Amino acid sequence: MIYLYSLQDEALYQQLLQQALPQYQICSWPQQVNVAKVRYAVVWNPPAGFFQGMEQLQAVFVLGAGVDRILKRDDLDPAIPVIRLTDAGMAQQMLEYVLYGVLHVQRGMDHYLRQQSHRQWQPLHAAEAGQTRIGVLGLGEIGGRVAQSLAGLGYAVAGWSRSGRQWAGVENFAGSAALPALLARSDILINLLPATPQTRGLLDGSMLQRLPQGAALINAGRGEQVDEAALLGLLDSGHLRFAMLDVFQVEPLESVHPLWSHPSVLLTPHIAAMTLPQPAVAQIVANLQALQEGNTVPGLVTRQRGY
Ligand code: GLV
Repeated sequence: MIYLYSLQDEALYQQLLQQALPQYQICSWPQQVNVAKVRYAVVWNPPAGFFQGMEQLQAVFVLGAGVDRILKRDDLDPAIPVIRLTDAGMAQQMLEYVLYGVLHVQRGMDHYLRQQSHRQWQPLHAAEAGQTRIGVLGLGEIGGRVAQSLAGLGYAVAGWSRSGRQWAGVENFAGSAALPALLARSDILINLLPATPQTRGLLDGSMLQRLPQGAALINAGRGEQVDEAALLGLLDSGHLRFAMLDVFQVEPLESVHPLWSHPSVLLTPHIAAMTLPQPAVAQIVANLQALQEGNTVPGLVTRQRGY
């Protein structure tokens, strides 16, 4: 049996999984099942205790790219393989989201919005793409494709990752020692890192301070990687010009949070790259087959690494 827990589109997921895997019984929470019979779970942040009693569980497929919350659970045996989505339609969405933020800054839309509210007609100089230095943190399937596509559009793109993965047209910075140099050359910093013990709190005040005067931050990685108080301070002082934020330390963002009304902030409710049912199920089915055949499973999470 495959037990599904998805926060939305559960009927569609159930139907797609059943079509692709007719040999399995697909059940969807909150349907009550004999959990001892569950072989595979397909989930996005199920409630505490969800995995309790799943004695036959062979693997958990996560309906998202980030597995930070799944890895922290105490009801899931660490020996059970966890498989996340890699790209599955998210890289394109992330590129669109990030590109919106990049153009907002590069073409001065933040300035023009301010001018418009004062009925002010004032052409401004726009930096050329080649003169706009973009830094991308995280060069996996999503970050790498975003970095490479922005480089293809003519931006001066550098990327930073743990392993130094190469992407065409992207200047490579690898390892923690290289982070300050990457920040110092980033007019627009794009965070697409997974949340791991190593990346938690990475963008604290001292790191954000290393961005050049007037830089912008786009965060579509995880909220806990950014010190929000320090970010607000740097926006207030004008050291940072703009922040576009999709993720927050606490989600949903509390209604009293100062980020809501900050004039230099554009924020969205964790929608930068949503899981698309069709490509997600196609990837899960392919990964399940690879797992059963003993082949390499793309997206198989290394617990120690955190992704
Ligand atoms: C979304 O945040 C995801 O991890 O897929």
